[in-house]
Amino acid sequence: MDHFLYRDGVLHAEDVTLTEIAAHVGTPFYCYSTATLTRHFRLFQEALAGLDHLVCFAIKSLSNQAVLRTLGDLGAGMDVVSGGEYRRAQAAGVPGERIVFSGVGKTRAEMAYALTHGIRQFNVESAEELRVLSDVASGLGKTAPITLRVNPDVDAKTHEKIATGRKEDKFGVPIARARDVYAEAARLPGIEVVGIDVHIGSQLTDLAPFETAFTKIADLTRELRADGHRIRRLDLGGGLGIPYTRSNETPPLPLDYGAMIRRVLGDLDVEIEIEPGRLIAGNAGILVASVLYLKQGEGRDFLILDAAMNDLIRPAMYGAHHDIVPVLEAQAATDQRPVDIVGPVCETGDTFARQRSLPPLAPGDLVAFRSAGAYGAVMASEYNTRPLIPEVLVHGDQYAVIRARPSFDEILNRDTLPSWLESPTP
Ligand code: LLP
Repeated sequence: MDHFLYRDGVLHAEDVTLTEIAAHVGTPFYCYSTATLTRHFRLFQEALAGLDHLVCFAIKSLSNQAVLRTLGDLGAGMDVVSGGEYRRAQAAGVPGERIVFSGVGKTRAEMAYALTHGIRQFNVESAEELRVLSDVASGLGKTAPITLRVNPDVDAKTHEKIATGRKEDKFGVPIARARDVYAEAARLPGIEVVGIDVHIGSQLTDLAPFETAFTKIADLTRELRADGHRIRRLDLGGGLGIPYTRSNETPPLPLDYGAMIRRVLGDLDVEIEIEPGRLIAGNAGILVASVLYLKQGEGRDFLILDAAMNDLIRPAMYGAHHDIVPVLEAQAATDQRPVDIVGPVCETGDTFARQRSLPPLAPGDLVAFRSAGAYGAVMASEYNTRPLIPEVLVHGDQYAVIRARPSFDEILNRDTLPSWLESPTP
């Protein structure tokens, strides 16, 4: 459920019409709903109620500081994967003891920064990284709390590019080698083992792969404890999928996910961490664009928008589906016609949808891409020197621009000319 609904024939974000925001900030723009973010975060809190737990928002999915502050104020922890994300969490006011640091390629500088400013744990992805972390932590006179991310060799049955738990994927320590690496961790200076981490992929629409992976983690917990390790925390990663179409998708609910966690891991006397991104942010955001042209092609028509693949890359990158709806609600009796919905960028990959049925639209009309809150703004680029589009956060009947559209001067002034090019050529 989200808070982007038609009222009096106009799509609203909570109590604000998208036409009003569009008139104020111009299109295209991202718009997020505080009520939806809050509701989704609370669904996880409820799903894990009674268990010692921390819900760490995967900020790679949506990293604007206003969103992080909103969730942080509700008690969320943060899952970060770079020094930049760590700084975002920190700038949003989230204390280090609620920040977990994931990722296969942490640098020494990132480790040192997090150790100095406070960290709940590092999710270490290899023996090689563990040795570097030990060196960095000992050099600073600190102790790094760690989990090892294990690769359980489970197929998450999701899109090829976002499955992470198979043995051929770059992530984690193969589960068969985990005991050896934990033994090494216990011997290394500056390292304190606190638990185990696993994340098998994103946009999972079935609980079975999670359950298979978590069962392996439960077994590993018992083995490692028998080996003398103090396993007190399990980080189960993120990955719970969302419905991208309104009609026929029914991915498992957080409550079902929580019940499964309780069943598989509930008797281990551990603290549970989860790292959801998409389920919290995905349906809490939309992208609003204007129609530039309706172009008649050979046997098909093209609806050309002012948003493009650089603003929302998921359709081009993963063939992802986003529902696209007119901001002014079509009358029930209106004939829908199939159109190809595209952006202005100079490649055919800049296609959002092919032969999608839409009511008649004219230049200047507004459309909204649903489910664009996660992996939308964060994956945007300035390809074709198109400025990053603004982000707007709605809260009841209020809204605020939480990232402004940059000016062309700001963009152009980031380039510098080397000395040999500075004077104009004769
Ligand atoms: N934890 C770790 C270690 C992760 O790698 C990820 C996502 C998450 C948590 C959050 O997963 P979520 O709950 O959002 O599924 N750009 C792709 C998705 C990439 C996901 C990467 N890792 C997309 O647009 O579908």
